[in-house]
Amino acid sequence: MTSNHLATELPSWSKLQQLHDTKGAKYDLRQAFKADPKRFEKYSEQFKGTKTDASLLVDYSKNLIDDEVLKTLLDLAREAKVEEQRDAMYAGVKVNSSEGRSVLHIALRDLPEKFKSKAEGVDEVKPELEHIKAFSDAVRSGSHKGYSGKQIKSIVNIGIGGSNLGPLMVTQALKPYAKKDLEAHYVSNIDGTHLAEALRACDPETTVFIIASKTFTTQETITNANSARDWFLKTAKDESHISKHFVALSTNVKEATAFGIDKANMFKFWDWVGGRYSLWSAIGLSIAIVIGYENFEQLLLGAHELDVHFKEAPLEKNIPVLLATIGIWYNNFFDAQSYAQLPYDQYMHRFAAYFQQASMESLGKGVTKNGKRVDYQTGEVLWGEPGTDGQHAFYQLIHQGTKLIPCDFIAPIETQNPLGKHHDILLSNFFAQPEALAFGKTAEEAKGELSAQDQSNDFLIQSKIFTGNRPTNSILAQKITPATLGALIALYEHKIAVQGFIWNVNAYDQFGVELGKVLAKKILPALEAGDPNKPGDHDSSTSGLISYYLKNRKG
Ligand code: F6P
Repeated sequence: MTSNHLATELPSWSKLQQLHDTKGAKYDLRQAFKADPKRFEKYSEQFKGTKTDASLLVDYSKNLIDDEVLKTLLDLAREAKVEEQRDAMYAGVKVNSSEGRSVLHIALRDLPEKFKSKAEGVDEVKPELEHIKAFSDAVRSGSHKGYSGKQIKSIVNIGIGGSNLGPLMVTQALKPYAKKDLEAHYVSNIDGTHLAEALRACDPETTVFIIASKTFTTQETITNANSARDWFLKTAKDESHISKHFVALSTNVKEATAFGIDKANMFKFWDWVGGRYSLWSAIGLSIAIVIGYENFEQLLLGAHELDVHFKEAPLEKNIPVLLATIGIWYNNFFDAQSYAQLPYDQYMHRFAAYFQQASMESLGKGVTKNGKRVDYQTGEVLWGEPGTDGQHAFYQLIHQGTKLIPCDFIAPIETQNPLGKHHDILLSNFFAQPEALAFGKTAEEAKGELSAQDQSNDFLIQSKIFTGNRPTNSILAQKITPATLGALIALYEHKIAVQGFIWNVNAYDQFGVELGKVLAKKILPALEAGDPNKPGDHDSSTSGLISYYLKNRKG
């Protein structure tokens, strides 16, 4: 199922523009809530796992929408054939058309249906999961020992982008489930500092390196992996010890073998798993080691339950579709320049960083799937930090700045660390911020708060006004358990899918990261040769920078 549309050609697009111009921009949330006491019930959805404890309440009532806007947004989704495109993706059609690949990360978590999808390699998912289970159990139990017979105490995942951000984010978010006497390090950056700092905390006799790379050709990962091997061999001496300390996660068995990894230490996945959707595959090995295979399986199951919701819920109740289309409302009709994810959970401090890649690498595209240049905005600029830290940093701009920044607030009802009044204080902030953003403070209210003397100070009054009508979604999870986290990640993955379907861009390739990589490879020989007078053939700025670097570098 492919679609040839430009989003602006869909009939509902112009209707949405008209709705924005006539009432959207003037939308008043105070009035809307006053007029409809049931607005919260009407504009919120609950998601509960049937076989897991996954549990989410998604309140989207504090958005600049009414029934007509919402209906038109869903009409837009229908006109863009979102349901058909979703079904094609689930059926294994090669929806990643530029690379001729299926997009089937959903098949990796289809445990209850026994991986019934037909794509090539799906029948290998179960044995690969068993492999992950066996290895993670062995490391955790201590039966997998280092070359000198000692128990493994540290793992170092070496990978970048999708081969790093997912496992890093999940192991941080699920830290309460982690094995306490096992350290997990994540090394991604080619900056030698990253590896050096991780190795400082490791002992070669008790460390397992996980080389995570879908292609096994990524410069950063291979360079870091080679340096890690050198560091290891300095102590271990004998190359035969590598097999106990290095494993590979890759679709490229040939390159992993060339690197020197034993077949038995390879965990494979398939080209229908995109890098930024790969934490559910062998790329999740470090997750299984850190939180245990059973918890890893709960993560998969929670995500699967959300996959079923996305597949089966009518659009009006379909949470990923609702979040995606509401996001389009602001991105395309209110010219929102960015969007923030704000988790009120310290463990989720890498959540926004993870979705920054997932969303921006997926949707940062300027041509449709049939090669037409788009005449509308695509991918949201996604950013965020945990609350309440963010409140003391950048919320000022969200509340009173000149930009509209739609935000998703995410919090657990149950904390993993009950500590006095902390959680109620945290949650009071979680409730208060969207309230303040939505309803603001009028000039009258601001004036009423001032001393009699200041009431005539217009500057002070103006400065204390909160315009309100700043849109938010609020997501309450029962607790950040593995299954709930799985569902939450899947929810945002599908939001990305739906936006890609509507904008008609291929959310599953990433040619935009190539050019810089190619140019860096061309520049490296000049840096290695070290002659400031021969920076290579560049513009005067690039040549000037290279020459300056070479002149001033020491050693
Ligand atoms: O930077 C682009 C990218 O290809 C990402 O899409 C990917 O997640 C990352 O690099 C790492 O790639 P690999 O897993 O092949 O090393």
